[in-house]
Amino acid sequence: MADRDLEGLPERLEAAARALLSPERFEHSRGCARFAAEACARSGIDPRKGRAAGWAHDLAKELPRERQMTLARACPVPVPDSVFRNPVLLHGPAAATLVAREFGVRDPEILEAAACHTVGRADMGPLAKIVWAADKLEPGRRHVDDEVRRRCGSLDPDSLLLEALEATVTWLRAKGREVAPETLDLYNTLRKERG
Ligand SMILES: [Fe+2]
Ligand SMILES: [Fe+2]
Repeated sequence: MADRDLEGLPERLEAAARALLSPERFEHSRGCARFAAEACARSGIDPRKGRAAGWAHDLAKELPRERQMTLARACPVPVPDSVFRNPVLLHGPAAATLVAREFGVRDPEILEAAACHTVGRADMGPLAKIVWAADKLEPGRRHVDDEVRRRCGSLDPDSLLLEALEATVTWLRAKGREVAPETLDLYNTLRKERG
């Protein structure tokens, strides 16, 4: 994405989030955008990409399910079939289509980050890893230990993703809640890669 295309993009997506999201989800997106921007700056990625993707990631979450489905089917990023069988996962790919269509976002990394934040893939790029983690670790996520969050303030995208997965899986299990198979796959794959 050319530099000028990023100019003002986070602000435009923030305005869209304000229009489309409940105040709580708007605050969550703000936390995600900030967390992602900081992680990007540490990793040599333009922080505006992190902010833009953070504001974008949940933009479709409060749209009617049928609209989410229609948007997800047109996603500019490949979407695994499992997404279409689990409606709560649709809003990621749907957001990617929305920002491509309505905001002219062409940056493949921003589109991937939005599309993949609900499922995740072991081979996703650094920005998508950062946004996946930011979504789970931003300060509004009360179940994340402050110590974990502090530690994450110095990590590279791969380590950050693993920490976020660890925190998410541990929390879900402690609550007796099911971990999505895709999330578990991602977790196990990354742990194996790390030895
Ligand atoms: Fe989401
Ligand atoms: Fe989110």
